[in-house]
Amino acid sequence: SSIKMVKICCIGAGYVGGPTMAIIALKCPSIQVAVVDISVSRINAWNSDQLPIYEPGLEDVVKQCRGRNLFFSSDVEKHVSEADIVFVSVNTPTKTQGLGAGKAADLTYWESAARMIADVSKSDKIVVEKSTVPVKTAEAIEKILTHNSKGINYQILSNPEFLAEGTAIQDLLHPDRVLIGGRETPGGQKAIQALKDVYAHWVTEDRIITTNLWSAELSKLAANAFLAQRISSVNAMSALCEATGADVTEVSFAVGKDTRIGPKFLNASVGFGGSCFQKDILNLVYICECNGLPEVAEYWKQVIKVNDYQKNRFVNRVVSSMFNTVSNKKIAILGFAFKKDTGDTRETPAIDVCKGLLGDKARLSIYDPQVTDDQIQRDLTMNKFDWDHPIHLQLASPTTVKQVSVVWDAYEATKDAHGLCILTEWDEFKTLDYKRIYNNMQKPAFVFDGRNVVNMEQLREIGFIVYSIGKPLDPWLKDMPAVA
Ligand code: UDX
Ligand code: UDX
Ligand code: ADP
Repeated sequence: SSIKMVKICCIGAGYVGGPTMAIIALKCPSIQVAVVDISVSRINAWNSDQLPIYEPGLEDVVKQCRGRNLFFSSDVEKHVSEADIVFVSVNTPTKTQGLGAGKAADLTYWESAARMIADVSKSDKIVVEKSTVPVKTAEAIEKILTHNSKGINYQILSNPEFLAEGTAIQDLLHPDRVLIGGRETPGGQKAIQALKDVYAHWVTEDRIITTNLWSAELSKLAANAFLAQRISSVNAMSALCEATGADVTEVSFAVGKDTRIGPKFLNASVGFGGSCFQKDILNLVYICECNGLPEVAEYWKQVIKVNDYQKNRFVNRVVSSMFNTVSNKKIAILGFAFKKDTGDTRETPAIDVCKGLLGDKARLSIYDPQVTDDQIQRDLTMNKFDWDHPIHLQLASPTTVKQVSVVWDAYEATKDAHGLCILTEWDEFKTLDYKRIYNNMQKPAFVFDGRNVVNMEQLREIGFIVYSIGKPLDPWLKDMPAVA
């Protein structure tokens, strides 16, 4: 028998493409995996000791496989033309201009990848949508490929990735499910089977779900919308808790005990961030509007509105607590990433909170264990359009914000500060020496915990005035003007 070595190529070496391909390479020694990207610096980083993304466990996996059956290359065309299965994992930011601006997905990168595949292919290919895309993107891609096909047979599959950052490796190793959508034709079913065979190296059959193309595409948008909705639901409750004296942690716990609801993903916070939730919901809203479903669109829009409300509410709480002004006051920001265990800052609530405080003329001293000074300065100076688009395609070099300093230590950040805000739930913030921090701060010293990581009682005993999301208010905060 002729067992041909399967070759996989993934276009896009980002947060999704990199880790996903590393795990495929780890689990499938008989498959050769090439990850390609137009960003040469990103590929160089993947080939170095300093990987371009921080993800627990990733480095180990990459070191085991790199050079064996896992390769990172900027020779996009070569690897695409040799591959049997091409994953497309390029970025799909929200459109900033033209039709659907602010809502629709910008498929520029996707389209150019598809055209490139059509240009360089010499053999049949399975093309897999990995990055989240609007429903019916597969159809558009199919058209681009088949209209330029030169007799080559393409099968399009949708195989959305459900990994969360910070836990990507564990999520990939033990997925709740793998979802594969394809055409209901014999050719489509054969392609589904080929991709199933890849995952079957480590995922049991009962966790591999196959559907039609549209169901797979929509399931990804729906899953992210449901997850974000849970957070907006609990965050909306947190405002009511503060107003009534209920404790959101107790409410979440009691509600989550209902097995129909479940205990996970019910942590109140300063707001959700990340590259997916807002973008995917905006996308869903746009798709609903285009399909004549304004009521459905309105329903999902509320999830984003509540998230924006939560971020604003936090800023207002800080300002109102501190005698209605933070002008020229030093405020320490602990945590800038959108969640713990990642250096990713895309859509992080910290951007809006910091901009809000800067708007009130605060001086910020920011510490995050994984986010660089450059990144923070970029996030705070650039407008949304710029940071939605890949850095390497940008020409302008960012200026720095004068009132912002980025430091490498929580104690440094809080020294002489009037208040501190915790915006990411890094484990290390639970075990800081808060007595020492208190002694080095201006008095009264305020803590605004946007992630409910500190022990309020202990901090109050030390002398802090403490605000935690959705918790009974300090008498001090109760006397301050109501927060909108
Ligand atoms: C999400 C989905 O979880 C994942 O399945 C999908 O593939 C991509 O989008 P990610 O954005 O990486 O993953 O992280 P996630 O853990 O979902 O957190 C998103 C945001 O919600 C973070 O800002 C997080 O802090 C916040 N969050 C999460 C809460 O505020 N409360 C919670 O209870 C859970
Ligand atoms: C509900 C709560 O479930 C229960 O915990 C509370 O004490 C009282 O209110 P009940 O109204 O008796 O109980 O029935 P439930 O099974 O929750 O169904 C409520 C409605 O939702 C029904 O009309 C049901 O048909 C509908 N439903 C339920 C759906 O349409 N889809 C579902 O997936 C579940
Ligand atoms: P995600 O979080 O979805 O993985 P990223 O922005 O981290 O998104 O990664 C997407 C990657 O895709 C970027 O590194 C970008 O340079 C790359 N990319 C975009 N368009 C192309 C293309 N046409 N060919 C190759 N790589 C591309």
